[in-house]
Amino acid sequence: MIRRNFLYSAAGAAAAQNPSGQIGVGMVGVGNRGGYVMKSVMAQTGVRVAAICDIKPDRLDKAASAAARDNPAVYRDYRALIDDKGVNAVHISTPCDLHVEHAIAALKAGKHVYLEKPVGITPASIGELVKVARQANRVIQVGQQLRSDPRMRKTIERIHQGVIGKVVMIKAQRHAGDDLPHDSSSADWFFDAKRSGDVIVEMSVHNLDVCNWAANSRPERASGFGGALVWPNDPLGRTNMDGYTLSYEYANGVKLSFSQVFFHPRGLPGNGQYWYVYGTEGAVDLGTSTLYPRGRDGKPQVLFPEEKVDLNLAHVTSFIEAIRTSSPSSVSADLMVGAHGALTAILGRDAIYGKKTLTWSDLGVEL
Ligand SMILES: NC(=O)c1ccc[n+]([C@@H]2O[C@H](COP(=O)([O-])OP(=O)(O)OC[C@H]3O[C@@H](n4cnc5c(N)ncnc54)[C@H](O)[C@@H]3O)[C@@H](O)[C@H]2O)c1
Repeated sequence: MIRRNFLYSAAGAAAAQNPSGQIGVGMVGVGNRGGYVMKSVMAQTGVRVAAICDIKPDRLDKAASAAARDNPAVYRDYRALIDDKGVNAVHISTPCDLHVEHAIAALKAGKHVYLEKPVGITPASIGELVKVARQANRVIQVGQQLRSDPRMRKTIERIHQGVIGKVVMIKAQRHAGDDLPHDSSSADWFFDAKRSGDVIVEMSVHNLDVCNWAANSRPERASGFGGALVWPNDPLGRTNMDGYTLSYEYANGVKLSFSQVFFHPRGLPGNGQYWYVYGTEGAVDLGTSTLYPRGRDGKPQVLFPEEKVDLNLAHVTSFIEAIRTSSPSSVSADLMVGAHGALTAILGRDAIYGKKTLTWSDLGVEL
């Protein structure tokens, strides 16, 4: 109680200006993700958490304690955080339906933005964000941290150099053994597809972005089927799917087969996430960076050994470095990566919802 009283009285107070040369980061939405990423922000040299914002008092309380070293200002209205002169960069980790609104406000106020994925959940709002970002010329990092995985980067570079010939097909999946907990602290928005964008946009945007990256293209059309197959209307009012299969054809001809389920029993082989990239000369398992040459005598070969990297830390470091060196294009997942990833997921989602093949131009956005 004492802590809460302190927070309420501090709410709205301006943050102390940052010592010279320091970058002040404001955290909007300090739930599971925001609280976690804040640790990577605090691990950066010359960076302080200048402000935090959440609409839930218990979240604010917890985050304020975790960031006590930096004595951040505390807000319940994100606009006050964005107006804070001590905030140079904003990390946005609110529910998905608020991303575009919060990112546009931050960019218009001249702040750099680290925006959690998906960048948006509707094509029109993503188009609007891209337009504002072009005017703003600020550093934007999208929270697709697989782009900061050095082994994946090197493996995909090798694929682009032709190690399996011409890429013709990708098979990928995101399978889990159970539904997300129905009583978790994110359950108030997660199961509502109007707020989360549905599981394909909220979660598989990571996986589909890697497919785009490996294919070196973006989908031209998609069709698929799915729904709430095991947990219909559970939790009550649920509009998220729990399983679907999708086919995409890329603009450069690559075909993709993708599925996501929450009901893959743990003992059944083939669980988890993978990306198999097939070319005219062989295939690569991206997850293990292993090349499988085609033909009888081809022996599997590990292209790059595993590297122990904290992807979240690396991703935040890439953001801070881009700010420090004034080089927006040096981030590992820029807004174009995020927008293509989100639109890829939205294309698949809407093809499933409409039970018809949709094309990229049906999205109605020019990137
Ligand atoms: N990059 C990743 O791998 C990754 C992992 C998990 C979640 N995420 C993304 O992070 C976001 C948050 O997910 P989460 O699991 O932390 O959810 P969460 O529910 O735990 O946290 C969201 C927080 O935002 C707060 N919030 C809601 N409306 C707000 C507003 N108007 N102003 C300020 N705060 C507000 C909520 O009170 C809550 O504390 C989602 O977009 C999710 O997709 C990304």
